[in-house]
Amino acid sequence: TALVEHTFVVSQMKMTHLCKETLVTVVNGQLPGPTIEVTEGDSVAFHVVNKSPHNITIHWHGVKQRMNCWNDGVPMVTQCPIQPNQNFTYRFNVAGQEGTLWWHAHVSCLRATLHGALVIRPILGASSYPFPKPDREVPIIIGDWWSMDLAEVDRKMKDNFFDYFPSASTINGKLGDLFNCSGITNCCVGVAEDGYVLDVEPGKTYLLRIINTGLFSEFFLKIAGHRFTVVGSDANYVSPYTTDLIVIAPGETVDALVVADAPPGNYYMVAMPNQAPLPDTQTPEPSTRGMVRYKNKDHIVEGGSTSNVPVAPVMPDQHDVVLSLYFHSNLTSLQHQRHPPPPVPTRVDEHMFVTLGLGTVCRRGQTCNKKTINETILVATMNNVSFQLPTTPLLEAHYHHTGVEDALLELPDKPPRVFNFTDISLIPVGPKERLLETTSRATLARWFQYGSVVEIVFQGTAILQGDSNPMHLHGHDMFVLAQGIGNFDATKDVARYNLVNPPLKNTVVVPNLGWVAIRFVTNNPGVWYFHCHYEFHLSMGMTAVFIVEDGPTVDTSLPPQPVDFPSTSCQMNIISK
Ligand code: C2O
Repeated sequence: TALVEHTFVVSQMKMTHLCKETLVTVVNGQLPGPTIEVTEGDSVAFHVVNKSPHNITIHWHGVKQRMNCWNDGVPMVTQCPIQPNQNFTYRFNVAGQEGTLWWHAHVSCLRATLHGALVIRPILGASSYPFPKPDREVPIIIGDWWSMDLAEVDRKMKDNFFDYFPSASTINGKLGDLFNCSGITNCCVGVAEDGYVLDVEPGKTYLLRIINTGLFSEFFLKIAGHRFTVVGSDANYVSPYTTDLIVIAPGETVDALVVADAPPGNYYMVAMPNQAPLPDTQTPEPSTRGMVRYKNKDHIVEGGSTSNVPVAPVMPDQHDVVLSLYFHSNLTSLQHQRHPPPPVPTRVDEHMFVTLGLGTVCRRGQTCNKKTINETILVATMNNVSFQLPTTPLLEAHYHHTGVEDALLELPDKPPRVFNFTDISLIPVGPKERLLETTSRATLARWFQYGSVVEIVFQGTAILQGDSNPMHLHGHDMFVLAQGIGNFDATKDVARYNLVNPPLKNTVVVPNLGWVAIRFVTNNPGVWYFHCHYEFHLSMGMTAVFIVEDGPTVDTSLPPQPVDFPSTSCQMNIISK
């Protein structure tokens, strides 16, 4: 194993897309940021130099950070953010994991431009993959482009204005020619943007390491004339599964093989954001179109002449969100020799039922007598409580037993009232305050003893208006036991649990108007963020922290914080001052 070092300089830069210059915050002047390649077992040091005006942390999404919660990169949870003109070095190792993960800023909307791939290669090299060795490996980073300043999007989100949308979707930072100019002044009408191009050679095999870094959307990904063989997700191998459609939610990664076995030619690769079924969302969000281009690209068409007109894939209906459930329920873990998945624990110590919803709370400084729209703001919730960031970093407080934890609210085992969660007809159409009268705001936490087996059923609710929810747990992988549409019904759904080969994921998609059941083992002491990976839901409070207590031995107890840890007096505005 080696020590791998990288320097991440965070700074602002101007980028022009859609004929509009936008100020973006990026790492090392690149969007997407650098792809980091490491080998399983390596120790890594990332020197983050903050030359931007923002408070920043970098989170290593999916890296388990065993006994190393200090380096998880969540502002006010694991650390004080790195302030402008400050530096911080993240140190961790990547043991026992291989596949595709990613890194991103964990400061509100800024992750839309501060992100990149983190590829963990097997220690025995590519010939040890549990699938045919690919000829080439390519990161496919799906994201969105905002013509608006992301700090502004953050402010609007917190103030409850919802008049912002991504202007385009991107593959590896390229917009392609399907963007939406509405709302952008002087947008390039008639000027096409470049799309991402993957050059292939006939007969060769490509491993696509697909990551959804987007803030707002789950994506459908297709390549005309080609099929994908899905071999991994969230840095866990899955049983090979062949499909022409990949569905990937924010935070997820999917590894898929593509063989260039079509007649040589040009084939569009389309990433389309899926959207809530009508009538919830009418305005389609733009797709992005890249291309798979064969080396000998003029293909023979009927009659013997040649053509290089690209072939377009037939995309699903943009509102057909149930395709996400189909895709995700086809994943099973691979019984792999080198990395056999751990057995699914059969004993469960803690059962939780967590509803995901929206609600209203009083605006700061208001008394909410009449609960009018002006007095309240919309928040996102777990069991009807909306998360509020603490004012002191929780991990330090927890480690030093400062008593800060006494003020946190315990995430309840179940929602305050049980009703029909997914019947759309029950959504009151009147004033918002009728929806969830018990909603409150607090720093929501849940304490677990070391080594507990936790089972959680996440229940989506109709108030989410057709969104699915990618729930991401830091520091642990979760077994995904089952998922379905409608209300979870223990009397029949428990019998459907896959206790043989459930996939292991760090980001689990709760289907639109449905539920998912997961289990995980609390084998990593620390304070772990747990949240929906839609920025809209995360920033509005669909979040909690899971506090895993130390185990009985030294090697199951969290070591002290690194010496160069950022100072404890901090605040969490993304723009400092
Ligand atoms: Cu990728 Cu807490 O997130």
